[in-house]
Amino acid sequence: MADKKLITVFGATGSQGGGLANAILDDKDSEFSVRAVTRDPSSDAGNALAEKGAEVVKGDIDDFGSIKEVLKNAYGAYFVTFFWDHFSPDKEKEQAKNLAKASAEEGLRHVIWSSLEDTRMWVALDDDQIPTLQGKYKVPHFDAKGESNQYFIANSVPVTFLHASFYWDNMIHFGLGPKRDEDGKLAISFPMGDKKMAGISADDIGKCAYGIFKKGNSMIAKTIGVAGEHISCSNMAKALGDVLGEPVAYNEMTPDQFRGLGFPGSDDLGNMFQFYRDFEEACNSTRDVTRSKELNPELKSFRKWLDVNASRIPLDG
Ligand SMILES: NC(=O)c1ccc[n+]([C@@H]2O[C@H](COP(=O)([O-])OP(=O)(O)OC[C@H]3O[C@@H](n4cnc5c(N)ncnc54)[C@H](OP(=O)(O)O)[C@@H]3O)[C@@H](O)[C@H]2O)c1
Repeated sequence: MADKKLITVFGATGSQGGGLANAILDDKDSEFSVRAVTRDPSSDAGNALAEKGAEVVKGDIDDFGSIKEVLKNAYGAYFVTFFWDHFSPDKEKEQAKNLAKASAEEGLRHVIWSSLEDTRMWVALDDDQIPTLQGKYKVPHFDAKGESNQYFIANSVPVTFLHASFYWDNMIHFGLGPKRDEDGKLAISFPMGDKKMAGISADDIGKCAYGIFKKGNSMIAKTIGVAGEHISCSNMAKALGDVLGEPVAYNEMTPDQFRGLGFPGSDDLGNMFQFYRDFEEACNSTRDVTRSKELNPELKSFRKWLDVNASRIPLDG
């Protein structure tokens, strides 16, 4: 253990960080060890990681001193922020600034920053094709992450910028799965037209991140997007129908209709899907499936994800 390179993993009890922590812990010959950061090391998720061999430590991304503490003596770190806990892009930027500064001060050798596109590089703020949100963002949960890349660059942190894709697990946990209409027929509803969406099984993101750490220096200063498949919503609906054993339609919405759904963050997600739709080539070329598979040979297509997870998708409402 002592001669292994220590990776501090933020969000280790969650999707992205959990995927990475478990990928390392499941590989008994790994050159890396895991320091799993959680606000509550005594939780079930914390205990499960400890049982698998992780050093589980208390840490808080909102506290600079705490970030410094959990980075001590680490070779590398995986940084993810938690937009949907607070909906504040400015808070994400503050956290990223502190993560970058602490990484530099602790002399980390390889950091993965879970970033996303700053969509304002494609759509100017005064361009009304995508409405401006919170006064200065187009897709707040993307823009803040992309804008934050600058902190890592300014602090000369050896960083890889990782762009995740739409989690297919959002069909289970985020209410974005098939719903029944008043006639009882199932449909998925997205404002994607006939464009292909880059998607991924959430656990595969961390497995790809593990591949990035294994590749090491050659990955520094690169932006690596990861996806299990680029798939149109009509093909998604077809695959869902095949696995669920009943037809699933694709109900194509407009971005305005999606923004108007009224759940917290529906405006941000409506803008995100519009960005995915209108800049399909830019989004999908960054999230290269072949390269993702090289990083993570277990990478799942949508159909493979469904084979494992379809029974977990709630179909009511
Ligand atoms: N859903 C998607 O399709 C998608 C796609 C691309 C990117 N993203 C991005 O993914 C990010 C979320 O990552 P995720 O899905 O891996 O999160 P997640 O599964 O919700 O996990 C969140 C973890 O964060 C930890 N956490 C929360 N607040 C913390 C704090 N103050 N200090 C330290 N740890 C804290 C929690 O651990 P404890 O409770 O144990 O402390 C929790 O396990 C978001 O920013 C989102 O924009 C999502």
